[in-house]
Amino acid sequence: MPDTRDLPIGVFDSGLGGLTVVRELCRALPRESIIYLGDTARCPYGPRDPREVRRFVLEIGAWLRSRCIKLMVIACNTATAAGLTLAQRAFEVPVIGVIEPGARAAVMATQNRRVGVIGTTGTVQSGAYSRAVHALDAGVAVFSAAAPKFVDIVEAGLRMDDSSVEDWMSKSGDALMQPSLFELGQDYLDPLKGSGIDTLVLGCTHFPLLSAAIQRSVGPDVRLISSAEETAREVAEILEVRGQLAPVGTLPRHTFATTGDPREFEVLGSRVLGWSTGDVESAPITELESLLDAGLLDALARYEAGEMACD
Ligand code: DGL
Repeated sequence: MPDTRDLPIGVFDSGLGGLTVVRELCRALPRESIIYLGDTARCPYGPRDPREVRRFVLEIGAWLRSRCIKLMVIACNTATAAGLTLAQRAFEVPVIGVIEPGARAAVMATQNRRVGVIGTTGTVQSGAYSRAVHALDAGVAVFSAAAPKFVDIVEAGLRMDDSSVEDWMSKSGDALMQPSLFELGQDYLDPLKGSGIDTLVLGCTHFPLLSAAIQRSVGPDVRLISSAEETAREVAEILEVRGQLAPVGTLPRHTFATTGDPREFEVLGSRVLGWSTGDVESAPITELESLLDAGLLDALARYEAGEMACD
């Protein structure tokens, strides 16, 4: 029986955005090994039907399970909104999403109890942030806006230049983009600013890579919240309570895999992380699909039947 303390934490996202959560996990838990899967070939998740996203969550969860993990982090708001509950029922290890930690950080930060949320269409339509905020403080007003083009901007920005996304934005991004980031920012963020928010949740793990530009759009009086830090804190707490923190002296291993092009993921992922990913593994979609066994399909069918009964 392997010592579960030595097992890695499994993390996934639709692509590169979840690496913003990996950065915080490494900062908070430097001894922990991590295995990350970026589903780049199927990114973006935001515009997809939540039933399709739930299937992806189970496929990737099964892939991480096959790598023997001690805890799973869904480092994608869209996948958390669509599939956290299902994943928690389907897998044996604790599964953490990024929405509840982001909501908690926002409730702690707001002074005037007016909180904005920007995310993908899937995340905003799910209403998951409002529910999570109201479960903590029913008196906080939540104003949400979908900002799907920000995901495209991050993905395109990373591919167009070898500086950081933020540098790229301030140097050349606006000149190359129509509409510009500034105009988009106004479209997405002005209605939220008009609602008098003092706190804005970056409800998509791609968005911390645009935080300087977003901060410029909303002004210095609005506090930006990324769920990455709070998620890392929650992971640390759970592992501690379960006696599963990696022992002192452990040399962590960080393994990265993608459904897309491993070489491209290595280059772009290393820039997001600020250190080298090393060789990136290929995890073809056909392999992920083949991992949906009878137990997972049954869990999925029961979940969808329950969801439909609630509609
Ligand atoms: N990073 C994902 C999230 O947090 C969004 C990107 C996508 O649309 O796939 O929601």
